[in-house]
Amino acid sequence: MAKHVCPWWLAYTFDNPLRRIFHKPEEIFAPYLQEGMTAVDLGCGMGYFSIGMAKLVGETGKIIAVDLQQKMLDTLRKRAEKAGVANRITTVLCNDNNIGTHEAVDFALAFWMVHETPDALRFLTQARAILKPSGKFLLAEPKGHVTFSEFRKTLSIAQEFGFKLIDSPVISLSHAAVFEKL
Ligand SMILES: C[S@@+](CC[C@H](N)C(=O)[O-])C[C@H]1O[C@@H](n2cnc3c(N)ncnc32)[C@H](O)[C@@H]1O
Repeated sequence: MAKHVCPWWLAYTFDNPLRRIFHKPEEIFAPYLQEGMTAVDLGCGMGYFSIGMAKLVGETGKIIAVDLQQKMLDTLRKRAEKAGVANRITTVLCNDNNIGTHEAVDFALAFWMVHETPDALRFLTQARAILKPSGKFLLAEPKGHVTFSEFRKTLSIAQEFGFKLIDSPVISLSHAAVFEKL
């Protein structure tokens, strides 16, 4: 695993029961997700948001949860079963250079993970390719760990390569932006 990638054991420091105080998936995703939609959670980690999104898309929707660590996907699967939404979530093991899925999606999430990718442009290009026309993409990076100026650089790359910035939602502890596929 590349040195810059968050190891599975470190994920427990932010992905624990206290997280709901800061991040409420139903509030963050309500404007973008509806029943029956297909969404992808890129760099899903242990699945905090995949599970939240699975509840919003309902029985007829689908979540594709992608990560490059099998341990993250295994923990996600256990948590999804406990939450009763495992049948709506497909897990995909990817690698540093490829997001590992070609399935068309209505919505894509990249939460606190773009700074871990070796090549932001390649990652954004692949994320854009699987979005349906007018599909939405929510990008959030951790404040402090990623400076505002670094975040702005990522926004510029996205806007230069086929994304239109449509919103800057307020999300705790995060820099955040929502794009639409042009
Ligand atoms: C800081 S964690 C955030 C996890 C999750 N998004 C959350 O907010 O709970 C970053 C995750 O991105 C994954 N990751 C890093 N680089 C990746 C890449 N190139 N493709 C897919 N996943 C990646 C890591 O394995 C890790 O699970």
